[in-house]
This record gives sequence, structure tokens and C-alpha cells, in this order.
Amino acid sequence: MKADIALLPGDGVGLEVTACAVEVLRAVASRGGHEFQFHEHLIGGAAIDAHGDPLPPSTLAACKRADAVLLGAVGGPKWSDPNAKVRPEQGLLGLRAALGVYANLRPVRVHSELVRFSPLKDEKLRNVDLLFVRELTGGAYFGAKTRSAEAATDEYRYTTPEIERAARRAFEFARSRRRHLTHVDKANVLETSRLWRSTVERIARDYPDVKLEHQLVDSMAMLLLTRPSTYDVIVTENLFGDILSDEAAALAGSLGMLPSASLGDGKVGLYEPIHGSAPDIAGKGLANPLGTILSAALLLRYSLGLEAEAKAVQVAVDSVIAHGTLTRDVGGNASTKEVGAAVQKALVKQ
Ligand code: NAD
Ligand code: IPM
Ligand code: MN
Repeated sequence: MKADIALLPGDGVGLEVTACAVEVLRAVASRGGHEFQFHEHLIGGAAIDAHGDPLPPSTLAACKRADAVLLGAVGGPKWSDPNAKVRPEQGLLGLRAALGVYANLRPVRVHSELVRFSPLKDEKLRNVDLLFVRELTGGAYFGAKTRSAEAATDEYRYTTPEIERAARRAFEFARSRRRHLTHVDKANVLETSRLWRSTVERIARDYPDVKLEHQLVDSMAMLLLTRPSTYDVIVTENLFGDILSDEAAALAGSLGMLPSASLGDGKVGLYEPIHGSAPDIAGKGLANPLGTILSAALLLRYSLGLEAEAKAVQVAVDSVIAHGTLTRDVGGNASTKEVGAAVQKALVKQ
């Protein structure tokens, strides 16, 4: 098949990890007789430096035209002045909104070889297999903002249709997995959470085969570490999903391990690791590229419908982990490029 992939390396380690994922996708293409074209564009801090705009119109137009978007990370200390007029992160938020990718999937699997890099005990990590469905285009991220010398506000708003579409996606995924959905909110305090709770309850009537439970976010932050294997699909609003999924990275051993797929009702999906630009290790060849490579696997699955190829990439990643060709964050001494090359080699060998 032919596919156009918009490539947005962004800032910091984004450049290093996307380069590896592109090499893996090229290997997938030559192995399967596919033709993938990559078109690289600026986003985030790099786009501010070049154009004064974190999401230049040419980047957005290219993403809308593409079959899928593969993104590294945006941001960094250079652009993080709290008084700055424009920030790299606005580019990413603008892209998510413009593509309408309201459902952010963040799967969390624990590889037995990496258990020792988690602060949790082995027995807690057995059988951990989670899927976060994070609402991505609403809530505190997208409400009106005000700022004066003495005060600041972030409007926190959700509408029923926004909640319904995210909840339906989550119920559908739960149905295809272990039929258990945990909805996380702060309904004891927030009005938006009470709207989420009643809307999720209503949608649940269409999914009587899925067991639904509600959990308050503060206790969920603890339960995720004390009994992670008891959860299956976790659906939650934008901000809670952001925080809990980084917390869940501690189960997988490193933030660098976790991929994501952002989907909407349109054809274009956005694929990125869940981590940021990691300024502390950027440019040193230390970044773990596996989260981005696994995001490329999700791209093959959800945007290109290439399920066998997606599985092949996952199997190649598993074998590289078993073999121990890993970056420092997961106990290895391989460079970013060496890990990427090892995945490519494992893929070609299959
Ligand atoms: P971060 O995710 O960049 O880094 C947190 C810690 O995890 C750091 O110690 C870093 O070295 C480590 N880490 C992250 N990715 C890694 C990888 N692939 N391999 C090994 N270690 C890795 O979070 P931060 O430091 O809070 O944020 C830095 C910048 O990144 C900020 O400007 C933030 O806004 C931005 N950010 C962007 C995205 C994105 O583009 N999707 C996501 C999160 C943060
Ligand atoms: C993420 C990041 C982003 C978010 C930032 C960079 C806007 O933390 O993708 O998880 O909060 O969504
Ligand atoms: Mn985040």
C-alpha cells in the first residue's frame, strides 16, 4: 500500500526518537512491499524559532493531507519563560484540536525483563495490561484563559457530546479486551466530573457486557501503584489522563517505553510517545526510542490497517528487550540509534 506520513520531530529528543521510528517504518515498507512517503515539518520550539509560530499553517495543512502524523515531542527550557507570548506546547494542542483527535490511547504493558526498573515489587507487576483512553481535546487544556498581575484563570469545560464520544471509544475498547472499564473523575468536587459520571452511566446502558466502575482520581493515583493488574481500560478527562499515564510509566520501567495513538472520527491519526522533549538528555544519544517505535506500530494498526505489520514491530521490540539492547533508562548501555537499528534487524529477521 501507499501512505503519506507527516513527520514532526519537534524539539529535544523528539528528533532522535522519530529518526529511529522512521527507519523501522522504512524496514516495514520494504519487507511488505509498501510505499511510505515521509514529509518532514516544523512544530513547537523549532517552528517558533523559524516562523514565530509553533504550528505554522504549512505544517497543519500537510498533517491534514497526510494519512497519519508521527510526532516526537515539543518544548524545552529555551521557550519556557512563564511570561512568553507563545509556547511550543500550543503547537501540539492546536494540532490535536485541528485534527479532532479526541481519543488518546495510551497502552501500558510491563515486560518481565524490565520489572526490575520499576520501583514496584515484581508480584504487583504480574499481568499488568492497561489501556488509558484519555480525552484529548477538551477540559482545562482548551478553556478560556485569563491572566492579570494578581490572578489567573483556566476555564474547565466539558460538553455532553465531548464526553459521549470519548466514553463510547472506551467502551468499545473494553469490549474488545477484558470487558472492564474504570472511569476516573473528581465527582466529589468538580461539576465537570459529575457531568462525566452521569454521561458515562448513560452510555453504559449500550454496553451491558462491560463492567463499569467509577474511581475518584486521588485514590486512583494510589491504586494504580498498589493493584495495577486489576484494571483493564481506564477512561478519563484530559488533565487526569495526562498525569495518571505518566504515573503508569513507572510500571513499565521508563517514560521512554510508552506509546500513544490519538484518534478522532476523521481519517488522520496522530502518533507520539507519551514523554516530552527530555531536555536533560537531548542530543546525547541516551533517549529510549521504543515508545516512539511502538507509536509507529499503532500508526500501522489504526491509520493504515496493517495489523500484521503492527504486530511484527511489537514482536521485534519484544525481542530487542529480551536480548537486552537497551538505553540507559532501562539498564542498558546502547545508544538511541543502536536500539533503533536492533529493532530494524529483528524485524528483517522475522
Ligand atoms: P519529559 O517527558 O521530557 O522528561 C521527564 C523525565 O523523563 C526526564 O528525566 C527525561 O530525561 C526522562 N525521559 C523522557 N523521555 C525519555 C526517553 N525517551 N528516554 C529516556 N528518558 C526519557 O518531561 P518534562 O521534563 O516534564 O518536560 C520537558 C518538556 O517537554 C516540557 O517543555 C514539556 O512541555 C514537554 N513535553 C512535551 C510532550 C509532547 O510533546 N508530547 C510531552 C510531555 C512534555
Ligand atoms: C503529553 C504532554 C502534553 C499534554 C503537553 C506537552 C501539552 O504532556 O502529551 O502528555 O499535556 O498533553
Ligand atoms: Mn504528558
